[in-house]
Amino acid sequence: MPERFTVTTPIYYVNDVPHIGHAYNEVATDVLARWHRMRGDDTWMLTGTDEHGQKIMRTAAANGVSPQEWTDRLVETAWKPQLELLNIQNDDFIRTTSERHKAGVRIFLERLKEAGYIYHGEFEGQYCVGCEEYKTAGDLVPGTGEYEGQLVCAIHSRPIEVVREANYFFKLSEFGDRLLALYDERPDYVQPEHVRNEVRQFVKQGLTDLSISRNTFDWGIKVPWDESHVVYVWFDALLNYITAIGYGVDDEQFERRWPGVHIVGKDIARFHAVIWPAMQMAAGLPISEHVFGHGWLLVGGEKMSKSKATGIEPKQITEVFGVDAFRYYFMSAIAFGADGSFSWEDLDARYHSELANGLGNLASRVIAMVHKYCDGVVPEVAVDAELQTLMADAVGRADSAIDTFAIHDAVDAAMSIVERLNGYITEQAPWVLAKDEAQRLRLHAVLATNVQGIGTAAIMLAPVMPETAQKLWAAVGGEGEVSAQPIREAHQWRGTGRVTTVPPLFPRIEQPAD
Ligand code: MSP
Repeated sequence: MPERFTVTTPIYYVNDVPHIGHAYNEVATDVLARWHRMRGDDTWMLTGTDEHGQKIMRTAAANGVSPQEWTDRLVETAWKPQLELLNIQNDDFIRTTSERHKAGVRIFLERLKEAGYIYHGEFEGQYCVGCEEYKTAGDLVPGTGEYEGQLVCAIHSRPIEVVREANYFFKLSEFGDRLLALYDERPDYVQPEHVRNEVRQFVKQGLTDLSISRNTFDWGIKVPWDESHVVYVWFDALLNYITAIGYGVDDEQFERRWPGVHIVGKDIARFHAVIWPAMQMAAGLPISEHVFGHGWLLVGGEKMSKSKATGIEPKQITEVFGVDAFRYYFMSAIAFGADGSFSWEDLDARYHSELANGLGNLASRVIAMVHKYCDGVVPEVAVDAELQTLMADAVGRADSAIDTFAIHDAVDAAMSIVERLNGYITEQAPWVLAKDEAQRLRLHAVLATNVQGIGTAAIMLAPVMPETAQKLWAAVGGEGEVSAQPIREAHQWRGTGRVTTVPPLFPRIEQPAD
């Protein structure tokens, strides 16, 4: 039986077009999914859009259209095209305005109500529409500029709104002990460690019940037993992970895909590692396998965001450097889990040193030498032992890194082969060996070793740079799709025994955009 790997991105608010912070999230999840597919796991990647709530309702109104028209437009013109642009291989795309999602949410709510976890009560809270979240005093900071003298949301730097309503509540406060036990029993449930500690600390301070409906606006899913209320947008959104895989309607699909792994930004780890598991416990569902909270892309030291006008759109980068370089850069330059500052200079420097000079140059040199010295035929001799060991180690290291979400280490392991091969060529100087008939065997071993190494690196890089990897693979005589190769045996691949040609992979860029 292949292992199950169901992996999700957050579903994105469609109040605006995507920026590279969203793209980062999508690419990382896609790399994990592609890696698991190449392991042979029963893989399922889910992404989608979060379309209800006040934030979107207000944006639509400000643009003079209905929320449904607004979300339809943004999904079709911005969010789905972004997946294509970034070469994301998602298996499904869920919209929270879809009928299948709404039906699943209603089933879930009814079950929770029957189980006694929902009640009706009075409520007053401080709400940030940007976060779509009720804030506690500790979440607020003194405002500056036009908000001087007021308390504002620490993330959006905008004032909160006071909500005073009679709402439906979820008995979140009953789950504190069970959540703490979950974090203790499954230390790898919330990752990385600093996010786990933060979540644990939050729960330890004591949980209050959660307001899960609103009745002062109507852009949302109606509460099944009281249609004057719509479901709180986060309660609705978290359920996408199960409504998309048939919760309540397709048990076979649900059993096959659930539980899954959630890749989220650290700002929303609390929703995923506190509220969401409590909802799962209340409904008697198996708890998600992992919640991984990655860091933020920072611009000028702050979380990049559209609302603060620091947003960079992915195509500003892909138009200059290409999609694969975009994917490579964000996966290799930032330790997954930590924050990372984006800069054009760093991107440009790594593109030229690691991709153009490192990988691209290696491939073109090796292919050219196999043509020149062996008429394009890969010599059938043993690969140098040191390099064979290095390749096997790199494959093992990368594969274990993926299990701990250390995507950057997996990329690093693949690139360690490239780096070593470049050094190896300089040491072995095949162009010198070629001048001496007595060194023929040595020359053959050096070339065979290089070809083997490039093919191995191509397989390992396929989840990160799918198109480049395919070109490298075809160039060294790999057959079929590189993405169909078993990634755990990347160092043992066998090809046709002939190299072909390698197109320019990473053209020099003279004028980086700024
Ligand atoms: N709709 C909610 C998620 C619901 S999931 C059930 C939401 N949407 S969002 O569009 O605001 O954010 C989506 C993801 O993008 C989050 O994981 C968030 O952390 C991530 N990012 C937004 N800006 C980011 C950066 N500057 N850097 C890295 N990730 C960032 O929250």
